[in-house]
Amino acid sequence: MKTIFSGIKPSGDLTLGNYIGAISNFVQLQNENKCLFCVVDLHAITVPQEKLELRKRTKDIAALYLACGIDPNKATIFIQSEVSAHNQLAWILECNTYVGELNRMTQYKDKVLKEGTSALTSGIYTYPVLMAADILLYDSSLVPVGEDQLQHVEIARDIAVRFNNKYGETFVIPEHYVPKIGARIMDLQNPTIKMSKSSSAKGCILLLDDPKIIRKKIMSAITDSESSIKYDIKNKPGISNLLSIFSIISNISIKDLESQFVNSNYGEFKKALADELVDFITSIQKRFVEIRNSQQLDDILDQGAITANNIGSRKIKKVYKKVGLLRK
Ligand code: AMP
Ligand code: TRP
Repeated sequence: MKTIFSGIKPSGDLTLGNYIGAISNFVQLQNENKCLFCVVDLHAITVPQEKLELRKRTKDIAALYLACGIDPNKATIFIQSEVSAHNQLAWILECNTYVGELNRMTQYKDKVLKEGTSALTSGIYTYPVLMAADILLYDSSLVPVGEDQLQHVEIARDIAVRFNNKYGETFVIPEHYVPKIGARIMDLQNPTIKMSKSSSAKGCILLLDDPKIIRKKIMSAITDSESSIKYDIKNKPGISNLLSIFSIISNISIKDLESQFVNSNYGEFKKALADELVDFITSIQKRFVEIRNSQQLDDILDQGAITANNIGSRKIKKVYKKVGLLRK
């Protein structure tokens, strides 16, 4: 049995990309592994957040985890800021991470290119170290993420190896788990960029979007001037992206979808996808409404925090001892 850890930031509404790249895999993995799924609110405050909005989104994501099929009897669901060992370990790891390594992080470099450094917090800079702490704290061996997070899992590995060499065997070296299909769901209006909460509204489907809007977004997705429904990322990025979405949602392989729609035009294909997606997301939304304001949600998060705190505080003790921080 492997220990699996992953997290999602409550810095915006959850997208279909988050579901396909991350949550759908969490749901698969929970059956045969020891899983911890976290709402990483400390990561969200690396950029400005409105207090009430952050509080609301944090619970929204926890409720969406459950609505999407994460089972609290199989996995631990909790909020990062409720487990202080994450911050404690992050500091120790920061003292074992080099500035040069952080300078090489592409997400950070992209942000600097776009925004300059004057408004960037040091939290944004050390963000990957807090993420490494999240992962290493629980001796996680597998980290399911979308493609954009690969480099961050890689630096967590580097930090763990270095720490083990310096202080003796302490951390399990984690590996990433990236799905074969759906590791990078693209923007519906610009299939060369990642679908994200910060890209265009029309190009991004939110899990809590109104079904009518979801249908509209799919029907107006950018495709190409041909007419064949074939998976070919290079020449047909729009159709390939829609095929990936269709495949994950319906559990039908891309090959089978290609044969199923061999005589259809793009309009018919999009309509079939929109029907499937609306059905799928509507059932998530129904469960979300039931769970979001229930006492059950708070109970699950309270229990999750207890479990995570137990593991985390034991690990912190070990780490502090290795570094020479505890008197006894
Ligand atoms: P974030 O919303 O940035 O906290 O991302 C949470 C998880 O969703 C991470 O594992 C991301 O890699 C994944 N993710 C976000 N956007 C996409 C996307 N467009 N395609 C696939 N995975 C994604
Ligand atoms: N940085 C990740 C993202 O933006 C979120 C995250 C924080 C995470 N800690 C993690 C993902 C630990 C996996 C494991 O998507």
